[in-house]
Amino acid sequence: MTSSPEALSPRESETQMTEQVLPQHANVLGTAFGGTIMGWIDICAAIAAQRHCGRVPVTAFVDNLHFKVPISVGDVVSIHGRLTQAFRTSMEVCVRVTRERPGSRDPVLSVEALLVFVNVGENGKGLPVPKLLLETDEDRSLAAEADARRSARKRA
Ligand SMILES: CC(C)(COP(=O)(O)OP(=O)(O)OC[C@H]1O[C@@H](n2cnc3c(N)ncnc32)[C@H](O)[C@@H]1OP(=O)(O)O)[C@@H](O)C(=O)NCCC(=O)NCCS
Repeated sequence: MTSSPEALSPRESETQMTEQVLPQHANVLGTAFGGTIMGWIDICAAIAAQRHCGRVPVTAFVDNLHFKVPISVGDVVSIHGRLTQAFRTSMEVCVRVTRERPGSRDPVLSVEALLVFVNVGENGKGLPVPKLLLETDEDRSLAAEADARRSARKRA
């Protein structure tokens, strides 16, 4: 069995997915069904968390899910997930979804979300995850914000 690394950079787990919105993904208004986008967000974030902890984690909490602009049938959707912080057994992942209209090369930020995953063992209890290596100013800033959100969640 390979042992877990002590710490990993956010770049090692960063995850990018691309989808195209098809008629079966739409609501009656012809825009993407929110639940479909949420499913893609959950998968993208779960892959990033799994790449970090090396096991299949479970979604514990979804926070700050904000649909900023509509996504339409035919749009190409890019979903990007990156860890903002790794705690003891849990990890926070930020997901940003951009839409690209056919014929346009300008991606528009459409949805943002924060998700917390827990690395669970066979008994359903949390297992330790590698620390997150904070290498850049952006890494440190995102991690400080994640730390503040974790404290706020614990107080709620
Ligand atoms: C997530 C789950 C394992 C947490 O169980 P728990 O008994 O609360 O576990 P613990 O108290 O030991 O906490 C484990 C970690 O989860 C975190 N956690 C638990 N609930 C949380 C919440 N609502 N928001 C953020 N983090 C949470 C804790 O902060 C802790 O993190 P840390 O070790 O990094 O400090 C449990 O609630 C569960 O299995 N939920 C169902 C998950 C699921 O089915 N998801 C959808 C399908 S994948």
